[in-house]
Amino acid sequence: MKIAIIGGTGGQGLGIAIRFVQTGEDVIIGSRTMEKAQAAVDKIKELLEKEEIPNLKAAENPDAAKEADVLVLTVPLAAQRATLLSIKEGAAGKILMDATGPLESAIGGSPTRCLYLPEGAASERAQKILPETNVICAFNNISSGALMNFNEPIDCDCLISGDDLESKVTAAKLIDKIPGVQVVDCGPLERAQIIEKITPLLIGLNIKKTCKDGGIRITGLDPECKIY
Ligand SMILES: NC(=O)c1ccc[n+]([C@@H]2O[C@H](COP(=O)([O-])OP(=O)(O)OC[C@H]3O[C@@H](n4cnc5c(N)ncnc54)[C@H](OP(=O)(O)O)[C@@H]3O)[C@@H](O)[C@H]2O)c1
Repeated sequence: MKIAIIGGTGGQGLGIAIRFVQTGEDVIIGSRTMEKAQAAVDKIKELLEKEEIPNLKAAENPDAAKEADVLVLTVPLAAQRATLLSIKEGAAGKILMDATGPLESAIGGSPTRCLYLPEGAASERAQKILPETNVICAFNNISSGALMNFNEPIDCDCLISGDDLESKVTAAKLIDKIPGVQVVDCGPLERAQIIEKITPLLIGLNIKKTCKDGGIRITGLDPECKIY
């Protein structure tokens, strides 16, 4: 599977890229500029201490979206609309996992508080911007710190939601390969309104240092009741 990380040059995008490179997927780091995308690829090579990573490449966001089978969006809320519009053509008919956090910091406030968007969740907003793409809320609650700690399994579940079951199954199979992560299907996309609100809570706990790279686990799940 070819996965494009749109806006993959920040902490969250780099971490997700490294994790998918490690699971053997083909990964394209997308950016607004080829230079930044290539610098991110070079950084991953340095971190993984490899001269070549055959399953990793750089591209500008629209080209990355066209080439990939599955997309992951990792840009701040303020950049969500413009970034999605820039990949609209390539994203049509594909799956887009959206990690966008609707944090108050997007308008100069605190990252420990939520913004209330007219569309509902940030992922619902993404779905409205890209009606021909199957949007899935994913990776909201996994911190970049946990993702970047790439020699260790991740102690956090990946809560997902989306309206297309087949797309959720594809996404879940990919995410489940990341060591330590348990995918929990929370239902339709509107559940992203709850999933996304957990993120500022975790950020607040991390700032108070009551935890480091704090995550969330859902207990009591029947392991036989996976989405696939
Ligand atoms: N960091 C975390 O621990 C974490 C955890 C859960 C969810 N998230 C969510 O994941 C998303 C990415 O987080 P992050 O910390 O990786 O973000 P970031 O480092 O601030 O930004 C990621 C990338 O987005 C692009 N970007 C930034 N500002 C932009 C703008 N004004 N217009 C267009 N593109 C812009 C940049 O890529 P180019 O310049 O290369 O185009 C940048 O490298 C956010 O929505 C965040 O809420 C983050």
